Amino acid sequence: MASRGHLLLALLVLASSSAAAASGARHQAHGRRGKPARPRPRPRLELVPAAPGASLPDRARDDARRHAYIRSQLLAASRTRGRRAAEVGASASASAFAMPLSSGAYTGTGQYFVRFRVGTPAQPFVLVADTGSDLTWVKCSGAGDGTGDAPRRVFRAAASRSWAPIACSSDTCTSYVPFSLANCSSPASPCAYDYRYNDGSAARGVVGTDSATIALSGSESRDGGGRRAKLQGVVLGCTASYDGQSFQSSDGVLSLGNSNISFASRAAARFGGRFSYCLVDHLAPRNATSYLTFGPPGPEGGAAASSSSSSAAARTPLLLDRRMSPFYAVAVDAVHVAGEALDIPADVWDVARGGGAILDSGTSLTVLATPAYRAVVAALSERLAGLPRVSMDPFEYCYNWTAAALEIPGLEVRFAGSARLQPPAKSYVVDAAPGVKCIGVQEGAWPGVSVIGNILQQDHLWEFDLRDRWLRFKHTRCAL
Ligand SMILES: *[C@@H]1O[C@H](CO)[C@@H](O)[C@H](O)[C@H]1NC(C)=O
Ligand SMILES: *[C@@H]1O[C@H](CO)[C@@H](O)[C@H](O)[C@H]1NC(C)=O
Ligand SMILES: *[C@@H]1O[C@H](CO)[C@@H](O)[C@H](O)[C@H]1NC(C)=O
Ligand SMILES: *[C@@H]1O[C@H](CO)[C@@H](O)[C@H](O)[C@H]1NC(C)=O
Repeated sequence: MASRGHLLLALLVLASSSAAAASGARHQAHGRRGKPARPRPRPRLELVPAAPGASLPDRARDDARRHAYIRSQLLAASRTRGRRAAEVGASASASAFAMPLSSGAYTGTGQYFVRFRVGTPAQPFVLVADTGSDLTWVKCSGAGDGTGDAPRRVFRAAASRSWAPIACSSDTCTSYVPFSLANCSSPASPCAYDYRYNDGSAARGVVGTDSATIALSGSESRDGGGRRAKLQGVVLGCTASYDGQSFQSSDGVLSLGNSNISFASRAAARFGGRFSYCLVDHLAPRNATSYLTFGPPGPEGGAAASSSSSSAAARTPLLLDRRMSPFYAVAVDAVHVAGEALDIPADVWDVARGGGAILDSGTSLTVLATPAYRAVVAALSERLAGLPRVSMDPFEYCYNWTAAALEIPGLEVRFAGSARLQPPAKSYVVDAAPGVKCIGVQEGAWPGVSVIGNILQQDHLWEFDLRDRWLRFKHTRCAL
Protein backbone atom coordinates (compact mmCIF):
# COMPACT_ATOMS: atom_id res chain seq x y z
CA MET A 1 0.00 0.00 0.00
CA ALA A 2 2.71 2.41 0.94
CA SER A 3 4.57 1.49 -2.16
CA ARG A 4 1.78 2.67 -4.37
CA GLY A 5 1.66 5.92 -2.55
CA HIS A 6 5.30 6.29 -3.23
CA LEU A 7 4.89 5.53 -6.86
CA LEU A 8 2.39 8.32 -7.20
CA LEU A 9 4.61 10.69 -5.32
CA ALA A 10 7.39 9.70 -7.59
CA LEU A 11 5.33 10.57 -10.59
CA LEU A 12 4.42 13.83 -9.01
CA VAL A 13 7.97 14.77 -8.45
CA LEU A 14 8.63 14.06 -12.06
CA ALA A 15 5.68 16.17 -12.96
CA SER A 16 6.89 19.08 -11.03
CA SER A 17 9.88 20.21 -12.93
CA SER A 18 10.33 23.88 -13.28
CA ALA A 19 11.05 23.79 -16.94
CA ALA A 20 11.64 21.49 -19.81
CA ALA A 21 12.96 21.62 -23.27
CA ALA A 22 14.22 19.45 -25.96
CA SER A 23 17.83 19.05 -26.76
CA GLY A 24 17.34 20.03 -30.30
CA ALA A 25 17.81 16.49 -31.40
CA ARG A 26 15.79 15.79 -34.44
CA HIS A 27 12.83 13.56 -34.47
CA GLN A 28 11.87 11.73 -37.55
CA ALA A 29 10.13 8.56 -38.30
CA HIS A 30 11.72 6.32 -40.82
CA GLY A 31 9.48 3.74 -42.26
CA ARG A 32 11.23 0.48 -42.75
CA ARG A 33 10.56 -0.67 -46.22
CA GLY A 34 10.03 -4.15 -47.46
CA LYS A 35 8.66 -5.45 -44.20
CA PRO A 36 5.35 -7.21 -44.03
CA ALA A 37 2.66 -5.19 -42.29
CA ARG A 38 2.10 -7.78 -39.63
CA PRO A 39 3.30 -6.90 -36.18
CA ARG A 40 5.73 -9.27 -34.59
CA PRO A 41 4.40 -11.12 -31.57
CA ARG A 42 4.69 -8.84 -28.58
CA PRO A 43 7.10 -9.90 -25.92
CA ARG A 44 5.22 -11.01 -22.89
CA LEU A 45 5.65 -8.50 -20.13
CA GLU A 46 5.00 -9.31 -16.53
CA LEU A 47 4.60 -6.83 -13.76
CA VAL A 48 5.17 -7.37 -10.12
CA PRO A 49 2.01 -6.49 -8.28
CA ALA A 50 2.85 -3.72 -5.86
CA ALA A 51 -0.13 -4.36 -3.68
CA PRO A 52 -2.39 -7.08 -4.96
CA GLY A 53 -5.05 -6.39 -2.39
CA ALA A 54 -5.07 -2.65 -2.91
CA SER A 55 -8.47 -1.17 -2.37
CA LEU A 56 -10.20 1.88 -3.65
CA PRO A 57 -9.68 3.67 -0.32
CA ASP A 58 -5.95 3.08 -0.77
CA ARG A 59 -6.13 4.67 -4.16
CA ALA A 60 -8.13 7.52 -2.75
CA ARG A 61 -5.32 8.21 -0.33
CA ASP A 62 -2.78 8.00 -3.13
CA ASP A 63 -4.81 10.50 -5.09
CA ALA A 64 -5.06 12.84 -2.15
CA ARG A 65 -1.27 12.83 -1.87
CA ARG A 66 -0.87 13.39 -5.55
CA HIS A 67 -3.34 16.21 -5.43
CA ALA A 68 -1.58 17.92 -2.54
CA TYR A 69 1.57 17.71 -4.57
CA ILE A 70 0.04 19.02 -7.79
CA ARG A 71 -1.44 21.90 -5.85
CA SER A 72 1.82 22.84 -4.21
CA GLN A 73 3.65 22.69 -7.52
CA LEU A 74 1.14 24.92 -9.20
CA LEU A 75 1.29 27.38 -6.33
CA ALA A 76 5.06 27.46 -6.62
CA ALA A 77 4.86 27.86 -10.37
CA SER A 78 2.41 30.73 -10.05
CA ARG A 79 4.94 32.56 -7.96
CA THR A 80 7.80 32.17 -10.37
CA ARG A 81 5.88 32.09 -13.63
CA GLY A 82 6.86 29.29 -15.94
CA ARG A 83 9.43 29.87 -18.58
CA ARG A 84 8.04 27.32 -20.89
CA ALA A 85 5.95 27.68 -23.92
CA ALA A 86 3.98 24.88 -25.37
CA GLU A 87 5.64 24.17 -28.62
CA VAL A 88 4.91 21.56 -31.13
CA GLY A 89 6.08 21.49 -34.65
CA ALA A 90 3.62 22.32 -37.35
CA SER A 91 4.48 19.37 -39.50
CA ALA A 92 1.24 17.99 -40.77
CA SER A 93 1.19 14.33 -41.47
CA ALA A 94 -1.47 11.88 -42.30
CA SER A 95 0.28 9.07 -40.53
CA ALA A 96 -0.17 7.98 -36.96
CA PHE A 97 1.12 5.46 -34.53
CA ALA A 98 -0.45 3.69 -31.62
CA MET A 99 0.76 2.07 -28.43
CA PRO A 100 -1.25 -0.50 -26.46
CA LEU A 101 -2.73 0.91 -23.27
CA SER A 102 -4.38 -0.97 -20.42
CA SER A 103 -5.51 -0.56 -16.85
CA GLY A 104 -2.91 -1.24 -14.18
CA ALA A 105 -5.58 -2.47 -11.79
CA TYR A 106 -4.07 -5.94 -11.82
CA THR A 107 -1.00 -4.56 -10.08
CA GLY A 108 -3.07 -2.70 -7.53
CA THR A 109 -2.47 0.75 -8.94
CA GLY A 110 -4.88 3.29 -10.29
CA GLN A 111 -2.65 3.95 -13.26
CA TYR A 112 -2.83 3.07 -16.92
CA PHE A 113 0.11 1.30 -18.49
CA VAL A 114 1.46 1.67 -21.97
CA ARG A 115 3.84 -0.61 -23.81
CA PHE A 116 6.88 1.22 -25.04
CA ARG A 117 9.93 0.10 -26.97
CA VAL A 118 13.10 2.09 -26.92
CA GLY A 119 16.70 1.63 -28.00
CA THR A 120 18.37 -0.08 -30.97
CA PRO A 121 17.68 -2.93 -31.01
CA ALA A 122 14.40 -2.13 -29.29
CA GLN A 123 13.90 -3.05 -25.64
CA PRO A 124 10.30 -3.40 -24.41
CA PHE A 125 8.91 -1.79 -21.26
CA VAL A 126 5.66 -1.17 -19.44
CA LEU A 127 5.39 2.47 -18.40
CA VAL A 128 2.80 4.54 -16.61
CA ALA A 129 1.06 6.81 -19.12
CA ASP A 130 1.14 10.10 -17.28
CA THR A 131 -0.14 13.45 -18.54
CA GLY A 132 1.33 14.98 -15.39
CA SER A 133 4.94 14.12 -16.20
CA ASP A 134 7.46 15.80 -18.40
CA LEU A 135 10.38 13.39 -18.23
CA THR A 136 10.13 9.89 -19.59
CA TRP A 137 12.31 7.47 -17.69
CA VAL A 138 12.99 3.78 -17.40
CA LYS A 139 14.83 1.71 -14.88
CA CYS A 140 18.35 1.06 -16.01
CA SER A 141 21.01 -1.51 -15.48
CA GLY A 142 22.15 -1.55 -11.92
CA ALA A 143 18.86 -0.18 -10.70
CA GLY A 144 17.61 -1.49 -7.42
CA ASP A 145 15.12 -0.40 -4.85
CA GLY A 146 17.55 -0.57 -1.99
CA THR A 147 16.14 -3.85 -0.78
CA GLY A 148 18.43 -5.91 -2.93
CA ASP A 149 15.68 -6.83 -5.35
CA ALA A 150 16.80 -6.07 -8.86
CA PRO A 151 14.02 -5.07 -11.22
CA ARG A 152 13.03 -7.74 -13.67
CA ARG A 153 13.45 -5.53 -16.68
CA VAL A 154 15.94 -2.78 -17.19
CA PHE A 155 17.01 -0.58 -20.04
CA ARG A 156 20.55 -1.47 -21.09
CA ALA A 157 21.84 1.80 -22.45
CA ALA A 158 25.17 0.26 -23.40
CA ALA A 159 23.34 -2.25 -25.58
CA SER A 160 21.55 0.47 -27.50
CA ARG A 161 23.34 1.81 -30.57
CA SER A 162 21.08 4.85 -30.60
CA TRP A 163 21.50 5.92 -26.98
CA ALA A 164 23.24 9.29 -26.64
CA PRO A 165 23.83 10.85 -23.25
CA ILE A 166 22.98 14.52 -22.87
CA ALA A 167 25.86 16.62 -21.54
CA CYS A 168 25.44 18.27 -18.19
CA SER A 169 26.46 21.60 -19.67
CA SER A 170 23.70 21.52 -22.30
CA ASP A 171 20.70 23.81 -22.17
CA THR A 172 18.43 20.85 -21.97
CA CYS A 173 20.12 19.71 -18.82
CA THR A 174 20.59 22.99 -17.05
CA SER A 175 17.25 24.54 -17.92
CA TYR A 176 14.79 21.84 -18.69
CA VAL A 177 15.55 18.51 -17.14
CA PRO A 178 13.67 18.31 -13.88
CA PHE A 179 15.92 18.00 -10.84
CA SER A 180 19.12 17.92 -12.79
CA LEU A 181 22.12 18.02 -10.54
CA ALA A 182 23.76 21.37 -10.32
CA ASN A 183 27.19 19.81 -10.26
CA CYS A 184 28.85 19.43 -13.60
CA SER A 185 32.48 18.64 -13.04
CA SER A 186 33.35 18.56 -16.73
CA PRO A 187 31.12 20.00 -19.47
CA ALA A 188 30.78 16.69 -21.26
CA SER A 189 29.74 14.73 -18.18
CA PRO A 190 26.32 13.15 -18.40
CA CYS A 191 23.29 15.13 -17.26
CA ALA A 192 22.39 13.56 -13.95
CA TYR A 193 19.15 13.81 -12.01
CA ASP A 194 18.41 13.03 -8.44
CA TYR A 195 14.82 12.95 -7.32
CA ARG A 196 14.28 13.03 -3.62
CA TYR A 197 11.00 12.12 -2.07
CA ASN A 198 9.65 13.27 1.19
CA ASP A 199 9.48 9.70 2.44
CA GLY A 200 13.20 9.25 1.91
CA SER A 201 13.03 7.38 -1.36
CA ALA A 202 14.89 8.64 -4.37
CA ALA A 203 15.63 7.98 -8.02
CA ARG A 204 18.92 8.79 -9.62
CA GLY A 205 20.08 8.52 -13.16
CA VAL A 206 21.25 10.22 -16.29
CA VAL A 207 19.35 11.74 -19.16
CA GLY A 208 20.00 11.00 -22.78
CA THR A 209 18.17 10.60 -26.01
CA ASP A 210 17.27 7.42 -27.78
CA SER A 211 14.96 6.14 -30.46
CA ALA A 212 11.57 4.72 -29.72
CA THR A 213 10.22 2.01 -31.96
CA ILE A 214 6.70 2.74 -33.07
CA ALA A 215 4.15 0.86 -35.10
CA LEU A 216 2.83 3.17 -37.76
CA SER A 217 -0.83 2.85 -38.45
CA GLY A 218 -2.28 3.86 -41.71
CA SER A 219 -4.59 2.79 -44.43
CA GLU A 220 -2.17 0.08 -45.49
CA SER A 221 -2.47 -1.65 -42.16
CA ARG A 222 -6.04 -2.20 -41.19
CA ASP A 223 -5.12 -5.07 -38.95
CA GLY A 224 -3.88 -2.65 -36.36
CA GLY A 225 -0.31 -3.55 -37.04
CA GLY A 226 1.69 -1.41 -39.31
CA ARG A 227 5.12 -0.56 -40.46
CA ARG A 228 7.69 -0.14 -37.80
CA ALA A 229 9.48 3.13 -37.56
CA LYS A 230 11.87 4.89 -35.27
CA LEU A 231 11.07 8.10 -33.50
CA GLN A 232 14.47 9.59 -32.85
CA GLY A 233 15.66 12.00 -30.24
CA VAL A 234 13.27 10.95 -27.50
CA VAL A 235 14.49 12.40 -24.21
CA LEU A 236 14.86 9.50 -21.83
CA GLY A 237 15.93 9.31 -18.22
CA CYS A 238 17.84 6.18 -17.31
CA THR A 239 17.17 5.60 -13.63
CA ALA A 240 20.25 3.84 -12.35
CA SER A 241 19.32 3.58 -8.74
CA TYR A 242 16.38 4.16 -6.56
CA ASP A 243 15.57 3.74 -2.93
CA GLY A 244 12.28 2.69 -1.51
CA GLN A 245 9.63 0.58 -3.09
CA SER A 246 8.19 3.43 -5.08
CA PHE A 247 8.72 2.03 -8.49
CA GLN A 248 7.77 -1.60 -8.28
CA SER A 249 4.72 -1.86 -10.43
CA SER A 250 6.04 -0.43 -13.67
CA ASP A 251 9.32 0.01 -15.48
CA GLY A 252 9.05 3.78 -15.44
CA VAL A 253 6.97 6.63 -16.77
CA LEU A 254 5.95 7.77 -20.22
CA SER A 255 5.63 11.54 -20.07
CA LEU A 256 2.57 12.92 -21.78
CA GLY A 257 2.74 16.35 -20.18
CA ASN A 258 2.75 19.76 -21.76
CA SER A 259 6.49 20.25 -21.93
CA ASN A 260 8.86 20.25 -24.81
CA ILE A 261 10.97 17.37 -23.55
CA SER A 262 7.94 15.18 -22.96
CA PHE A 263 7.35 12.21 -25.17
CA ALA A 264 3.93 13.60 -26.02
CA SER A 265 5.21 16.84 -27.45
CA ARG A 266 8.04 15.06 -29.24
CA ALA A 267 5.79 12.53 -30.87
CA ALA A 268 2.93 14.91 -31.50
CA ALA A 269 5.27 17.35 -33.22
CA ARG A 270 5.93 14.69 -35.79
CA PHE A 271 2.45 13.18 -35.95
CA GLY A 272 -0.15 15.80 -36.61
CA GLY A 273 0.29 17.81 -33.41
CA ARG A 274 -2.02 15.65 -31.37
CA PHE A 275 -2.44 12.52 -29.37
CA SER A 276 -5.36 10.64 -27.96
CA TYR A 277 -6.12 7.87 -25.57
CA CYS A 278 -9.09 5.79 -24.71
CA LEU A 279 -9.23 4.57 -21.13
CA VAL A 280 -10.87 1.22 -20.59
CA ASP A 281 -12.80 0.66 -17.37
CA HIS A 282 -10.30 1.16 -14.56
CA LEU A 283 -11.06 -2.31 -13.24
CA ALA A 284 -10.73 -3.98 -16.61
CA PRO A 285 -8.47 -7.02 -16.86
CA ARG A 286 -5.06 -6.53 -18.33
CA ASN A 287 -6.02 -8.04 -21.63
CA ALA A 288 -8.62 -5.31 -22.23
CA THR A 289 -6.44 -3.11 -24.37
CA SER A 290 -7.04 0.25 -25.94
CA TYR A 291 -4.52 2.60 -27.46
CA LEU A 292 -2.52 5.72 -26.98
CA THR A 293 -2.36 7.19 -30.45
CA PHE A 294 -0.26 9.96 -31.94
CA GLY A 295 -1.75 11.59 -34.98
CA PRO A 296 -5.41 11.37 -35.88
CA PRO A 297 -7.26 8.77 -33.82
CA GLY A 298 -8.02 5.78 -35.96
CA PRO A 299 -9.56 2.40 -35.30
CA GLU A 300 -6.59 1.87 -33.01
CA GLY A 301 -7.99 4.66 -30.88
CA GLY A 302 -10.22 2.00 -29.47
CA ALA A 303 -13.33 1.81 -31.58
CA ALA A 304 -13.58 5.52 -31.09
CA ALA A 305 -13.84 6.57 -34.63
CA SER A 306 -15.79 3.52 -35.57
CA SER A 307 -19.43 2.88 -35.99
CA SER A 308 -20.42 1.90 -32.45
CA SER A 309 -20.86 5.51 -31.55
CA SER A 310 -21.43 7.78 -34.45
CA SER A 311 -21.82 10.86 -32.27
CA ALA A 312 -19.44 13.66 -32.96
CA ALA A 313 -16.81 14.41 -30.40
CA ALA A 314 -17.39 17.36 -28.11
CA ARG A 315 -14.59 19.88 -27.94
CA THR A 316 -13.40 22.53 -25.58
CA PRO A 317 -10.30 24.72 -25.62
CA LEU A 318 -7.21 23.02 -24.24
CA LEU A 319 -5.55 25.58 -22.03
CA LEU A 320 -1.82 25.18 -22.53
CA ASP A 321 -1.29 27.63 -19.75
CA ARG A 322 2.27 28.12 -18.53
CA ARG A 323 1.02 28.50 -15.01
CA MET A 324 -0.42 25.00 -15.19
CA SER A 325 2.39 23.31 -17.06
CA PRO A 326 3.02 20.40 -17.47
CA PHE A 327 -0.64 19.76 -16.72
CA TYR A 328 -3.45 20.17 -19.21
CA ALA A 329 -6.04 22.66 -18.07
CA VAL A 330 -9.62 23.00 -19.24
CA ALA A 331 -12.27 25.61 -18.55
CA VAL A 332 -15.27 24.24 -16.66
CA ASP A 333 -18.43 26.31 -17.00
CA ALA A 334 -20.76 24.36 -14.77
CA VAL A 335 -21.55 21.06 -13.13
CA HIS A 336 -25.04 19.62 -13.22
CA VAL A 337 -26.51 16.85 -11.12
CA ALA A 338 -29.82 15.34 -12.18
CA GLY A 339 -30.16 18.13 -14.71
CA GLU A 340 -29.76 20.95 -12.23
CA ALA A 341 -26.87 23.38 -12.30
CA LEU A 342 -24.99 23.39 -9.02
CA ASP A 343 -24.16 26.60 -7.27
CA ILE A 344 -20.37 26.69 -7.51
CA PRO A 345 -18.48 29.99 -7.46
CA ALA A 346 -16.87 30.70 -10.83
CA ASP A 347 -13.53 31.30 -9.10
CA VAL A 348 -13.24 27.56 -8.53
CA TRP A 349 -12.72 27.06 -12.25
CA ASP A 350 -10.59 30.14 -12.80
CA VAL A 351 -6.82 29.68 -12.97
CA ALA A 352 -6.31 33.41 -12.41
CA ARG A 353 -8.22 33.23 -9.14
CA GLY A 354 -6.46 30.29 -7.60
CA GLY A 355 -8.71 27.68 -9.12
CA GLY A 356 -8.80 25.90 -12.44
CA ALA A 357 -9.23 22.33 -13.53
CA ILE A 358 -6.82 19.91 -15.11
CA LEU A 359 -7.27 16.59 -16.79
CA ASP A 360 -4.83 14.03 -15.41
CA SER A 361 -4.28 10.47 -16.51
CA GLY A 362 -2.18 9.79 -13.41
CA THR A 363 -4.84 10.62 -10.82
CA SER A 364 -7.54 8.02 -10.25
CA LEU A 365 -10.38 9.69 -8.40
CA THR A 366 -11.50 13.16 -9.33
CA VAL A 367 -10.50 15.80 -6.82
CA LEU A 368 -12.72 18.86 -6.52
CA ALA A 369 -11.79 22.03 -4.66
CA THR A 370 -13.94 22.43 -1.56
CA PRO A 371 -16.79 24.59 -2.91
CA ALA A 372 -17.26 22.28 -5.90
CA TYR A 373 -16.82 19.16 -3.81
CA ARG A 374 -19.45 20.32 -1.30
CA ALA A 375 -21.94 21.14 -4.03
CA VAL A 376 -21.47 17.89 -5.93
CA VAL A 377 -21.55 15.67 -2.87
CA ALA A 378 -24.59 17.45 -1.44
CA ALA A 379 -26.54 17.05 -4.67
CA LEU A 380 -25.64 13.40 -5.14
CA SER A 381 -26.08 12.37 -1.51
CA GLU A 382 -29.45 14.06 -1.31
CA ARG A 383 -30.66 11.81 -4.07
CA LEU A 384 -29.12 8.72 -2.53
CA ALA A 385 -30.42 9.50 0.95
CA GLY A 386 -32.73 6.49 1.02
CA LEU A 387 -29.85 4.04 1.10
CA PRO A 388 -28.18 2.64 4.22
CA ARG A 389 -24.86 4.33 4.84
CA VAL A 390 -21.63 2.46 5.40
CA SER A 391 -18.45 4.12 6.56
CA MET A 392 -15.34 3.64 4.53
CA ASP A 393 -12.54 6.06 5.08
CA PRO A 394 -11.59 8.33 3.29
CA PHE A 395 -14.90 8.54 1.50
CA GLU A 396 -17.59 10.68 3.02
CA TYR A 397 -20.58 8.96 1.46
CA CYS A 398 -20.70 5.21 1.02
CA TYR A 399 -23.77 3.05 0.75
CA ASN A 400 -24.76 -0.53 1.29
CA TRP A 401 -25.84 -1.25 -2.23
CA THR A 402 -26.85 -4.87 -1.81
CA ALA A 403 -30.56 -4.07 -1.87
CA ALA A 404 -30.41 -0.83 -3.80
CA ALA A 405 -32.86 -0.38 -6.60
CA LEU A 406 -32.11 3.21 -7.23
CA GLU A 407 -31.15 5.16 -10.24
CA ILE A 408 -27.96 7.09 -9.76
CA PRO A 409 -28.56 10.73 -10.69
CA GLY A 410 -26.78 11.93 -13.81
CA LEU A 411 -23.65 14.02 -13.46
CA GLU A 412 -22.66 16.39 -16.20
CA VAL A 413 -19.57 18.55 -16.46
CA ARG A 414 -19.98 21.42 -18.88
CA PHE A 415 -16.84 22.82 -20.40
CA ALA A 416 -16.31 26.05 -22.27
CA GLY A 417 -17.77 25.80 -25.73
CA SER A 418 -20.80 23.79 -24.55
CA ALA A 419 -18.87 20.54 -24.46
CA ARG A 420 -20.63 18.22 -22.07
CA LEU A 421 -19.07 15.29 -20.31
CA GLN A 422 -21.72 12.85 -19.13
CA PRO A 423 -19.76 10.06 -17.50
CA PRO A 424 -21.39 6.73 -16.77
CA ALA A 425 -22.66 6.46 -13.18
CA LYS A 426 -19.93 3.95 -12.31
CA SER A 427 -17.38 6.71 -12.87
CA TYR A 428 -18.59 8.84 -9.94
CA VAL A 429 -20.57 6.46 -7.74
CA VAL A 430 -17.86 3.88 -7.64
CA ASP A 431 -17.63 0.29 -6.48
CA ALA A 432 -15.52 0.45 -3.35
CA ALA A 433 -16.05 -3.03 -1.93
CA PRO A 434 -18.46 -5.91 -2.56
CA GLY A 435 -21.94 -4.48 -2.14
CA VAL A 436 -20.63 -1.03 -1.35
CA LYS A 437 -20.62 2.04 -3.54
CA CYS A 438 -19.20 5.42 -2.63
CA ILE A 439 -19.48 8.88 -4.05
CA GLY A 440 -16.12 8.69 -5.75
CA VAL A 441 -14.85 12.23 -5.69
CA GLN A 442 -12.45 13.69 -3.19
CA GLU A 443 -12.16 17.06 -1.61
CA GLY A 444 -9.22 19.24 -2.56
CA ALA A 445 -8.11 22.33 -0.70
CA TRP A 446 -9.51 25.64 -1.76
CA PRO A 447 -8.00 27.76 -3.20
CA GLY A 448 -6.51 25.10 -5.37
CA VAL A 449 -6.82 23.21 -8.59
CA SER A 450 -9.43 20.55 -9.31
CA VAL A 451 -8.33 17.39 -11.05
CA ILE A 452 -10.41 15.30 -13.41
CA GLY A 453 -9.03 11.86 -12.71
CA ASN A 454 -8.81 8.81 -14.90
CA ILE A 455 -11.88 7.10 -13.46
CA LEU A 456 -14.04 9.99 -14.63
CA GLN A 457 -12.29 9.73 -18.00
CA GLN A 458 -12.86 6.02 -18.48
CA ASP A 459 -14.93 4.75 -21.40
CA HIS A 460 -14.13 7.88 -23.34
CA LEU A 461 -11.73 8.78 -26.09
CA TRP A 462 -9.74 11.90 -25.25
CA GLU A 463 -7.86 13.77 -27.89
CA PHE A 464 -5.27 16.38 -26.98
CA ASP A 465 -4.84 18.62 -29.97
CA LEU A 466 -1.69 20.45 -28.97
CA ARG A 467 -1.32 22.31 -32.21
CA ASP A 468 -4.79 23.78 -32.42
CA ARG A 469 -5.35 23.70 -28.68
CA TRP A 470 -8.51 21.68 -28.43
CA LEU A 471 -9.50 18.88 -26.15
CA ARG A 472 -11.97 16.58 -27.89
CA PHE A 473 -13.79 13.74 -26.23
CA LYS A 474 -16.53 11.27 -26.85
CA HIS A 475 -18.10 8.38 -25.08
CA THR A 476 -17.07 5.06 -26.52
CA ARG A 477 -16.19 1.52 -25.65
CA CYS A 478 -12.46 1.59 -25.58
CA ALA A 479 -11.48 -2.05 -25.62
CA LEU A 480 -11.32 -3.61 -29.02
C1 LIG B 1 11.69 24.30 -25.63
O1 LIG B 1 11.20 25.45 -25.01
C2 LIG B 1 12.10 26.50 -24.93
C3 LIG B 1 11.50 27.63 -24.14
O2 LIG B 1 10.16 27.66 -24.19
C4 LIG B 1 12.50 26.94 -26.32
O3 LIG B 1 13.43 27.98 -26.24
C5 LIG B 1 13.11 25.77 -27.03
O4 LIG B 1 13.42 26.12 -28.34
C6 LIG B 1 12.16 24.61 -27.04
N1 LIG B 1 12.82 23.50 -27.66
C7 LIG B 1 12.25 22.79 -28.62
C8 LIG B 1 13.06 21.68 -29.19
O5 LIG B 1 11.14 23.00 -29.01
C1 LIG C 1 28.63 15.35 -8.56
O1 LIG C 1 28.27 14.39 -9.52
C2 LIG C 1 28.99 13.19 -9.45
C3 LIG C 1 28.49 12.30 -10.56
O2 LIG C 1 28.50 12.95 -11.76
C4 LIG C 1 28.78 12.55 -8.10
O3 LIG C 1 29.55 11.38 -8.02
C5 LIG C 1 29.17 13.51 -7.02
O4 LIG C 1 28.89 12.96 -5.78
C6 LIG C 1 28.42 14.80 -7.18
N1 LIG C 1 28.85 15.76 -6.17
C7 LIG C 1 28.00 16.40 -5.41
C8 LIG C 1 28.59 17.37 -4.45
O5 LIG C 1 26.79 16.27 -5.51
C1 LIG D 1 -9.55 -11.56 -21.43
O1 LIG D 1 -9.31 -12.88 -20.97
C2 LIG D 1 -10.46 -13.54 -20.51
C3 LIG D 1 -10.06 -14.90 -20.00
O2 LIG D 1 -8.85 -14.85 -19.32
C4 LIG D 1 -11.49 -13.68 -21.61
O3 LIG D 1 -12.66 -14.26 -21.11
C5 LIG D 1 -11.81 -12.30 -22.16
O4 LIG D 1 -12.67 -12.42 -23.27
C6 LIG D 1 -10.54 -11.59 -22.58
N1 LIG D 1 -10.89 -10.23 -22.99
C7 LIG D 1 -10.35 -9.64 -24.03
C8 LIG D 1 -10.78 -8.24 -24.27
O5 LIG D 1 -9.56 -10.20 -24.75
C1 LIG E 1 -25.55 -4.65 3.61
O1 LIG E 1 -26.81 -5.01 4.06
C2 LIG E 1 -27.03 -6.42 4.13
C3 LIG E 1 -28.45 -6.67 4.59
O2 LIG E 1 -29.36 -5.84 3.97
C4 LIG E 1 -26.05 -7.05 5.09
O3 LIG E 1 -26.22 -8.45 5.07
C5 LIG E 1 -24.65 -6.69 4.67
O4 LIG E 1 -23.73 -7.17 5.63
C6 LIG E 1 -24.48 -5.19 4.54
N1 LIG E 1 -23.17 -4.91 4.02
C7 LIG E 1 -22.35 -4.02 4.59
C8 LIG E 1 -21.03 -3.85 3.96
O5 LIG E 1 -22.66 -3.36 5.57
